Amino acid sequence: MGKTMKRKSLINPRFALLMLVIAAMASNMAVVHHAQEQRPLYLDPSQPIEARVEDLLSRLTLDEKISLVHADSKFTTAAISRLGIPRRWLSDGPHGVREDVGPDNWLPAGRSDDFSSYMPALVGLAATWNQDLGRAYGEVVGQEARQRGKQIMLGPGMNIMRTPLNGRNFEYPGEDPFLSSRMVVNYIKGVQSQHVASCAKHFAANDQEWQRGTINVEMDERALREIYLPPFKAAVKEAQVQTVMTAYNRFRGPYCSENDYLVNKILKGEWGFKGLVMSDWNGTHSTRGAVLNGLDLEMGTEGKPYDEFYLARPFREGLSNGEFSLSVLDDKVRRNLREIFFTHSIEGRGPGSLNTKEHQATARRIAEESMVLLKNDAGALPLDADKIKSIAVIGENAVRLQAYGGGSARIKAFYEVTPLEGILRKVGDRANVSFSMGYREKAGNDLAERAVQAAKQADVVIYVGGLNHSPYFDAEGSDRKDMKLPYGQDDLLRRIVDANPRTIVVLFGGGPVEMGSWLAQVPAVLQAWYPGMEGGNALAAILFGDVNPSGKLSCTFPKRLEDSPAHALGAYPGRDGTVRYDEGLLVGYRWFDTKKIDPLFPFGFGLSYTNFEYSDLRIVRPRDDQDGTVTVEFDVKNAGMRDGAEVAQLYVQDLKPRLVRPLKELKGFTKVFLKPGERRSVSIPLDRSSFAFYDPEKQGWVAEKGDFKILVGSSSRDIRLQDNFQLTRTTLEK
Ligand code: BGC
Repeated sequence: MGKTMKRKSLINPRFALLMLVIAAMASNMAVVHHAQEQRPLYLDPSQPIEARVEDLLSRLTLDEKISLVHADSKFTTAAISRLGIPRRWLSDGPHGVREDVGPDNWLPAGRSDDFSSYMPALVGLAATWNQDLGRAYGEVVGQEARQRGKQIMLGPGMNIMRTPLNGRNFEYPGEDPFLSSRMVVNYIKGVQSQHVASCAKHFAANDQEWQRGTINVEMDERALREIYLPPFKAAVKEAQVQTVMTAYNRFRGPYCSENDYLVNKILKGEWGFKGLVMSDWNGTHSTRGAVLNGLDLEMGTEGKPYDEFYLARPFREGLSNGEFSLSVLDDKVRRNLREIFFTHSIEGRGPGSLNTKEHQATARRIAEESMVLLKNDAGALPLDADKIKSIAVIGENAVRLQAYGGGSARIKAFYEVTPLEGILRKVGDRANVSFSMGYREKAGNDLAERAVQAAKQADVVIYVGGLNHSPYFDAEGSDRKDMKLPYGQDDLLRRIVDANPRTIVVLFGGGPVEMGSWLAQVPAVLQAWYPGMEGGNALAAILFGDVNPSGKLSCTFPKRLEDSPAHALGAYPGRDGTVRYDEGLLVGYRWFDTKKIDPLFPFGFGLSYTNFEYSDLRIVRPRDDQDGTVTVEFDVKNAGMRDGAEVAQLYVQDLKPRLVRPLKELKGFTKVFLKPGERRSVSIPLDRSSFAFYDPEKQGWVAEKGDFKILVGSSSRDIRLQDNFQLTRTTLEK
C-alpha cells in the first residue's frame, strides 16, 4: 500500500494536465497535417503557378480539358465546378469594358450593371507620348474589368497604321512600331496589375478591314520584323501579356489562327510565349490547322453549337483516333490554366472599382494630353473667355455621342461630356453660345445655311466636325473610301470661314483627313481623336487656355491619300484576294522622309501655347562601351510664358547602311513638363537594338559597326540637335 501511495504521489496533477494538453495538441496537429495533405496543391496560392498548373492538369478528365479550349457562349468558357474553376468571362476592349451581349448572339444583354468608363481612343493615347498615362489607362480598364467580373480584356489592339483608310485605326496606337510598343507595354502592365489578363490583338498584319476575313497578306521579312511585329514582341517579352488574339486575315497563305510560322515558330518559339493564343471571333477555320498550328482557345465560331466547335468534339475525336496526341491538348490546357491562376480565378480577386473620381480624372488627363494643336496662327488660341461675347458652335460632332460606336470597341458609357456641353460648362455663364448642326449624315442644305448665318453673327466659331463611327469611317468591318471629310464638310467649312474668318476647327477621327481646300483660311486646327467621356471638358480646357496642348501626332497626315505609301504604290486594298505590302519598311514617316514628300503634318508634330528651345546635345558613352549602350543628353527650355510640356523625340539615322533603311527611325522620346523659363536636362538611353536592323539572311538583328546620326527634335521634321555616333563593333542578336 505504502508502495502504491508512493507511486501515486509520483503523478503530479499539473504534470498530468500538461501531458493531456500535449496529447491534445499532437492529435490536433495530426488533423491539420492530414487536412493539408488532402488540400490539393493547385488550391494553394503560395505554390508556384507552374506547380499548380501541373497539379490541376493531372486532375482534369479529357472532357474537362476539351471544355477549356473552346467557348461555351459568346464571351465565356465553361466552369468546372467540381474543381472550383469558375466560368471565365472575356470582354472587349480596349477603351473600357464593353457592355454584355448574348449569351448566343450579339444583342445587348439589357443589363443595368454593365456600364463602363469610356476612355480616349488608343490612337489618342499614343498621341500623348506619355508612358505613365499608358499605365494609368490600363489600370482604369483593369479595375473596371475586375469589378465587372472579367478575367480577360480583349485589348490593346496593336496593328500598325499602314493606310489612313483602315476603319480600325482609332483602336490602334499609330504608325510607328517604337511608339506603339512603348504605349502598349505600359497599358498591358496597368491592366495586368489588377489580375486581369490583357490580350495583344490582332496577331498579325490585320491592317485593313476590307476583306479582313479572307485577305492574304504578303510582305517581306524585314517589314514583318521591323514594322509589324515589334509591339507584339514587346507585349510578350516586356509586359508578359497573358493572352494573344490571332488576326482574321491570312498571312503568306494560311489563316493567322492556323499559322505555323507566326504562332508556333515566332510567338511561342522565338519569343517563348507561355500564355494562351485565342482566335478572333469566327476566325477559326479547321480543327487540324487550329490544333497543330498553335490555337489554344476557340472563340466566336458562328453557325455551330459550342460542342461542335473545331476545338470541341472534332478535336476530341482526333484524339481518340490517334490523329492528335494528348500532349498537344495538354499544352493548350496548360496555357489556359496559367491564365486562370494569373487572374486568381479560383481563389477570387476581391472587388475592383467603376467610374471613380480617379478614373474620371485619368480619362480627362489623357484626353487633354492627347489633343494635337495642328495650326495656331497669330495666337488664335487660346480664346479669352472674358473678351468673347458670342460663340457659334457648329458641327454634328459637337453634340454626337461617340462611345457607343465603332464595333467591338463600343462602350456603354456612364456618361460622355460632348464638346458643346464642355464649352457651355466653361463659358456658358459669360458668353452667348449658339449651336447649329451644319451637317449631318442625312441632311438638307438648310442646315449649312443656318450654320453660316450663325457664324456671321458670332465673335468666334468653334467648328467641331471630322469623322465618326458610322460604317465606312472609324468603324470595324469596313475601311474609309477616301481621305476626305464626309457629309460635305469641306464646302461647309469654306462657307463658314468666308462668313467668319475667326473659325477654330476641331476634328474628331482616328486618323488623317485632307484639309487642303480650307486649311489656309482657318487660323487654328485641333485634332481631338475620340477623346472619351471627359472629352468635352478637356477640349474646353484647351480652347480657353486652362490646359496647354501637348499631344503630338502618332501618325503622318498626308496632303493627299495618293502621297501615302500603300496608295502611291497601288498596294491597297489588294487584288485577287492578296494584298502585297510593296512599300516594305517604308510605312508612315519612313516613306515620306525617304521619298522626300512633304506631308501636311508630319509624324510627331504638335504645337503648344508656349515654345521650347533645345541645346547642349551630349552623347555619353559608358567607359567600357561594348554593346552600343549610350545615353543621349540635352537641355530643353520652356522659352515662353505658360506652363507647357514638350515631347522631345530621338531618331537614329544609319549613314551607310548595308541594306536599305529608312532615312530615320524613332528610337527614344521623353515628355518634359516645364514652367515658363525653366530649363531641364533630359536623357534618353539607347542600346544596340536602337541601331539594329533585321537581317533576313542571318535571321537576326544586326547592329553594324559604322557611323550613325543621332537626331533630336520636336517632330520628325523639326530636328533641333544632331551629332554623329560611331558604333565600334558589329553584333548579331537572334
Ligand atoms: C474583333 C475583335 C474583338 C472580337 C470580340 C472581333 O470582331 O475583331 O477585336 O475582340 O470581335 O468582340
